[in-house]
Amino acid sequence: MCLRNIWMKWRDWQTMTRYEAIFRRRSVRKYKDDAVEEHILEKIRGFGKRALGARPDIRVKWKIYPASDHNVKGMFQVKAPYYAVLYSEVCEDCYLHAGCLMQQLVLYLHTQGIGTCYQGGAQLKRDEEEEGMKRMMILAFGYPAEPLERTRSEFKRAELKKLLKTNVPLGKAQKKLLEAARLAPSALNQQPWRFVATENRIHLFVKRPGMLGYQRQLDRNMFNAGITLSHMLITAEEYWFDLEYRKLDSIMEKAIQNHLYAGSLVIVNGNGRI
Ligand SMILES: Cc1cc2nc3c(=O)[nH]c(=O)nc-3n(C[C@H](O)[C@H](O)[C@H](O)COP(=O)(O)O)c2cc1C
Repeated sequence: MCLRNIWMKWRDWQTMTRYEAIFRRRSVRKYKDDAVEEHILEKIRGFGKRALGARPDIRVKWKIYPASDHNVKGMFQVKAPYYAVLYSEVCEDCYLHAGCLMQQLVLYLHTQGIGTCYQGGAQLKRDEEEEGMKRMMILAFGYPAEPLERTRSEFKRAELKKLLKTNVPLGKAQKKLLEAARLAPSALNQQPWRFVATENRIHLFVKRPGMLGYQRQLDRNMFNAGITLSHMLITAEEYWFDLEYRKLDSIMEKAIQNHLYAGSLVIVNGNGRI
């Protein structure tokens, strides 16, 4: 790479936003052993205090395990120099909130040139009880030894028309929010979410699990839903859309076929700055 290209790439990293990272990030499964700077590790340990969330009132805690601790094991495990573990108090929407928080961390790390991979099948050998909290997810991270990014056309995701039900023409804000939501990563890339758009609203639903391992699957799907929700919240912040995340009693009863209601985005002002 010539010096000009290196400089352009460096400048790009310095200014990338979490919103831009949505359209570029991919899971990284090969890592260098390089140490991540202490100020970034410190930011991870305190992550969430100012992050957007479905339920900012839920207590969470982060822990970082370096690979040298040999504390992470399990199926589909990716070898990485670090693992971030998110614990949360157990209550309604804790998985949704956890997914929403962790994806914001994933996008922040991407803007710092750091790769990540969710570790849904991993376990901790020593799973320390964290003040009555439960482990929500493990995230492998570190400097990448394979491409950190992909182009927009390389994303393998379902088309929006397969994920969306609507009887109204989409507004500008809805289009921007849904495009970011569509690109969200999910376990096994299953994209277990559906969106229903009505006037100034986007309702989020997740796939209803089968009988086998119902609760575990539901928790996982809610975590995935939190990831896609975070993409919409970050998009709203980027474009200055004024919106609220809420659970609406009127929708609560209305399951769409084989799906369960997760929550709604109510767009108060979708003019923003587009
Ligand atoms: C909740 C969750 C659990 C995941 N678990 C694993 C895992 O155990 N091992 C793995 O290699 N990838 C895992 N992934 C990564 C997904 O396979 C990946 O995000 C998806 O295929 C989309 O690819 P992308 O992240 O490159 O866009 C997980 C992703 C999510 C959201």
